[in-house]
Amino acid sequence: MFQKASYKNPKQLSSVIDTALGREKADLVLKNVAFLDVFTGSFVEGDIAIYGGYIVGICDSYQGIEERDCKGLHLVPGFIDAHVHIESSLMTPARYEESVLPLGTTSAIWDPHEIANVKGCDGIKWAIESSEKLLMDVFVMLPGCVPSTSRDQGLESGGAEIVARDLLQFKDHPRVLGLAEMMNYPGLLNGDEDIHAKVHMFSQARRDGHCPGLTGHQLNAYAAAGIHSCHETVTKSEALEKLMKGIHTLIREGSCAKNADTLLPLINSYTSSVLALCSDDRNPADISSEGHMDFIINLALKASCRPEDIFRVASYSAAKMYGLEDRGAIAPGYQADLCLIKKNADNWDAGFKMVDVFKKGKVVSKELAHHTRVPDLSLRGNNIHTPEITAKSFHIGEGQPGPAQARVIKVLENQIVTEEMRVEIKVSKKGVECDPGKDILKIAVIERHQGTGQIGVGLVHGFGLQSGAIATSINHDSHNVIVVGVDDESMAAAVEALREINGGIVVWQDAQNISCLPLPIGGLMTDESPKIIASRLKYLKNSAKSLGCRLHEPFLQLSFLALPVIPSLKITDKGLVDVNKFQVVSTLCE
Ligand SMILES: [Fe+2]
Repeated sequence: MFQKASYKNPKQLSSVIDTALGREKADLVLKNVAFLDVFTGSFVEGDIAIYGGYIVGICDSYQGIEERDCKGLHLVPGFIDAHVHIESSLMTPARYEESVLPLGTTSAIWDPHEIANVKGCDGIKWAIESSEKLLMDVFVMLPGCVPSTSRDQGLESGGAEIVARDLLQFKDHPRVLGLAEMMNYPGLLNGDEDIHAKVHMFSQARRDGHCPGLTGHQLNAYAAAGIHSCHETVTKSEALEKLMKGIHTLIREGSCAKNADTLLPLINSYTSSVLALCSDDRNPADISSEGHMDFIINLALKASCRPEDIFRVASYSAAKMYGLEDRGAIAPGYQADLCLIKKNADNWDAGFKMVDVFKKGKVVSKELAHHTRVPDLSLRGNNIHTPEITAKSFHIGEGQPGPAQARVIKVLENQIVTEEMRVEIKVSKKGVECDPGKDILKIAVIERHQGTGQIGVGLVHGFGLQSGAIATSINHDSHNVIVVGVDDESMAAAVEALREINGGIVVWQDAQNISCLPLPIGGLMTDESPKIIASRLKYLKNSAKSLGCRLHEPFLQLSFLALPVIPSLKITDKGLVDVNKFQVVSTLCE
């Protein structure tokens, strides 16, 4: 399916050969361009002939129906986002394309596990269908851990559970490349039958990993099971051990988890074949203000990475990693997914600017302008199935007045890992109270899918709020409601405001000052334009700041506090979770 030189019939093959030989005119010839040869790691100047969406000739002189002199410009293969949850962009796939394709991301590999956690197999079906008719190519990795932990571990309630046999219906879809991030490594390493069935089911396909901090015997076992990648690497030494054990490392620069600064120095001519770039979770405000894969590449160039290496990582290496043999190189037979770029200065250290993006040989800006976008009306409905929430819902430690020691989640800026703090607190008759002066706030997760009313309440440090509350229906991966605030009343009001908009993000200051972004598609996404979402997010961030919030990315950081597979202390609707022990623990220490 993804072999190079894709032609539909023998007649088309003859035309391809005639054009490559120069007997026929190509559709388009980019003349005098310095193009990247990813195979030898060098830039070469010459003509690029494109016919039927594919490159048919390089270096030699060609004539085209359309010809473009590209003297002074460079041409590199289109970028591949090797791992993304499109839902985290808050956009539908069509809107995501509108946002990232003009930035050079011509292919993306999507794990739709956010919507799968909310809607189950219907969510996966929607993901496949809604990414079908796009200009960019969106491939799908099937979610392997929905929910992120096995139900019998009892650590969280989600909207759905997907077992191995559920994935069979999607397994052979032509755009499905394999099994997505295997987060439940304890399950894999300790004989969870369903996890083993899933990993075995995809033994002929790619199986993505997700193993922050895994080393030694455990990492050997994980690699021996066939896991080929990990995008959760935080340190250089961790990356080197993974690479040595044959696990490709995806360098991630999301909105919240940012690993590029640490991991980009790993890139050299050897490692450029086993590294790729990914966004994982990146919001539209960051995409519009900083960029996407182009942003990571520019970071690398500014850190003096060889352009031949970083552009290879961004394209050819990612394509090879996922078996996409038809793209990632500028050579005859490869798909004409191309970025025409201009260096910002004589040397590459100053980065580059995009001049034009070509998808299958056509200029993206022109194609998008004529693209009819059908509003996505599917997957709508009530997103907040919770009983009424009041201030009392957030009481903890009632009837145990006196001093106590409490476990507190310590949020680390730009990291999705947390630390556990132990803090001396006073418990009144009403129970534990927040102490905004010491930045000790309450945090709660409320089950929103089945209407059980299950609530986990805990304490958190790091947000810095001095008033009000923030609530959202995005909360990885079970996507319940998560709320943080300075008092129970504000938290209850924020949750009720969230119910009124049917899910999304709410910053609640008081009854007159409520900022929100409605996300009607599963409580995760909207069909609004990237521009509108980005400006709304900026407004919400400023509202959070005015409440005293210190975090650069408060909503994403909040939403990752419910993911009980990322260390150390997290919170779900079942309560505080000690991730290292995979156990629910109490807020007040015994
Ligand atoms: Fe991910």
